Amino acid sequence: MITIRRVKLGEWNLYREVRLGSLKEAPCAFSTKFEVALERSDKSWKRQADDASEGDAQAIFIAFSDGKPSGIAAIYRDKEKMEDAEVFQVWVCSKQRGAGLGTKIMDTVFEWAEQVGCRRVFASIAETNKKALGFYSRYGFVKVSEVDGETKMEKRTRSNKKPATSTSDSRLS
Ligand SMILES: CC(C)(COP(=O)(O)OP(=O)(O)OC[C@H]1O[C@@H](n2cnc3c(N)ncnc32)[C@H](O)[C@@H]1OP(=O)(O)O)[C@@H](O)C(=O)NCCC(=O)NCCS
Repeated sequence: MITIRRVKLGEWNLYREVRLGSLKEAPCAFSTKFEVALERSDKSWKRQADDASEGDAQAIFIAFSDGKPSGIAAIYRDKEKMEDAEVFQVWVCSKQRGAGLGTKIMDTVFEWAEQVGCRRVFASIAETNKKALGFYSRYGFVKVSEVDGETKMEKRTRSNKKPATSTSDSRLS
């Protein structure tokens, strides 16, 4: 059974485990390197996970397959323009790929984005990551620009709510 939920307050170790797992398994997909992330302090992981566990500025979602962590995505709203947000750290464990889990995780991200009033969600994908580019395109993202080997894409949400004003941000990519 698949469940997808937001990281809860105090679950920084779960977040750390899944994020490190993704960096180790798919090193080419992310700008952060596994070895660098491994050096991060517990305090830094805790701050990032706790900040994303509540409020409407950022959120991290973890997917579980039969209770086992199997995917992740994080979304951060633009502090200067709260109607915009960016999705980061999208990953599905290799065994679960191609069965729709990435799509389900993205649906969860968009549900949250719409609830908090975001109108656009952006994503930056390495130009060499053809699988991810295909995945985002199929999901409805369209290319906005290409800079330094990264393709920036966007997708509009169905939200018509007026976005709330800014809150804190402890993002570490
Ligand atoms: C990109 C990524 C998150 C996609 O996750 P996923 O779970 O495989 O995504 P989905 O299953 O929803 O869709 C992917 C493929 O499965 C197909 N698919 C979806 N549901 C399916 C189903 N029920 N049965 C068979 N195939 C299905 C999709 O059509 C798509 O086809 P493709 O093989 O031509 O790509 C995953 O490949 C990944 O983690 N990659 C490494 C990390 C990465 O690149 N992250 C992005 C950083 S920008």
